[in-house]
Amino acid sequence: MHETDLPSGIERHHVAYPLRKGGELLAVLEVSADGALHGRPLETLRLLAQVAAEAISNARLHQHTAAQAASLEMLSHQLIDAHQAEQATRQEVEELNEKLMGADQLKNQLLNTTSHELRTPLSSILGYLDLILDEHAESVAEEREFVGEARRCAEHLLHLINDILDISRIEAGNLSIVPGSVDIHALMDDVRSTIAPQARQKNIELHVQCHDELLALADFRRARQALLNLTANAVKFTEKGSVALTAHDNGDAIQITVSDTGIGVSEADRANVFEPFFQSDSSNNRAYPGTGLGLAITKRLVQLMGGEVRLEERQAAVGSAFSMTLPKNVISEIRQPTRGGVS
Ligand SMILES: Nc1ncnc2c1ncn2[C@@H]1O[C@H](COP(=O)(O)OP(=O)(O)O)[C@@H](O)[C@H]1O
Ligand SMILES: [Mg+2]
Repeated sequence: MHETDLPSGIERHHVAYPLRKGGELLAVLEVSADGALHGRPLETLRLLAQVAAEAISNARLHQHTAAQAASLEMLSHQLIDAHQAEQATRQEVEELNEKLMGADQLKNQLLNTTSHELRTPLSSILGYLDLILDEHAESVAEEREFVGEARRCAEHLLHLINDILDISRIEAGNLSIVPGSVDIHALMDDVRSTIAPQARQKNIELHVQCHDELLALADFRRARQALLNLTANAVKFTEKGSVALTAHDNGDAIQITVSDTGIGVSEADRANVFEPFFQSDSSNNRAYPGTGLGLAITKRLVQLMGGEVRLEERQAAVGSAFSMTLPKNVISEIRQPTRGGVS
């Protein structure tokens, strides 16, 4: 406490209290008053100083606690993030593992199933060539027949190898699609002329119906491969009757349906036909040749182009119908009206 004489002569008293808490100086409380300060007011000021010191200390403590809570919260967020990152990495590793196991399984399946499929036509080729080399052909015509059979087997072998390479590439994610405008009419015509000899040989009628001018956004080569697989199956699994290819715009996409009057797919097999290597009859001496890869390849190819392949619900007493969709080529559709107009 100290006193000062002011020039005006008024006696003014100043009191300064250090505000302390636990030995630390928090602030200084200064009070000035006219006249002397003592007794109760001084006592009240001392008390006030104590309360103020307590309040400042509490406020500081609160501030400190809040800062600590914030940094704790940040730390817990960081921990959660780290935990999530670790979980994501673990999931990625698990997925990769699963993929690797799947690829390994596929590789084993490929080796087991296809070794038989590959050996059969190769043995036939060697057999026919031996017949010719050992001069077993009784005429030039028969020799030609043997050469023709050997060639047919070689073609089948090539087809098999292509299928195996395709499914391996697709499974490895290495097959790229080159999208462009695909004229569905041209696509169906192409498939028809490729399959026509097989259908004629089996005496099966082959119908193609596509009234409208339909354009899809797809890869012609891959769309052809998919439709060819479905149509080849239809002809292969049909002994009598017809195979029909129809196309229409279903509003969302271009839909091509391949229906046949063949042996059909049983209820039990419906869920499995798109699985790699699945064949209703997988015995070694089955009536229908193949690897069971056609539909698996077709499904994946069409999916890569943004479409879907489906086995339709059985509608007729005989046969089956598979359909594939392809995205519409909307840009070309808008340009279409100028076609055929008066120029
Ligand atoms: N149009 C069809 N009619 C009857 N069964 C079919 C038809 N298409 C496919 N399937 C069944 O689905 C299986 C798988 O077909 P796919 O993958 O093309 O193999 P693959 O033709 O080599 O046997 C066939 O073996 C057959 O059992
Ligand atoms: Mg097939």
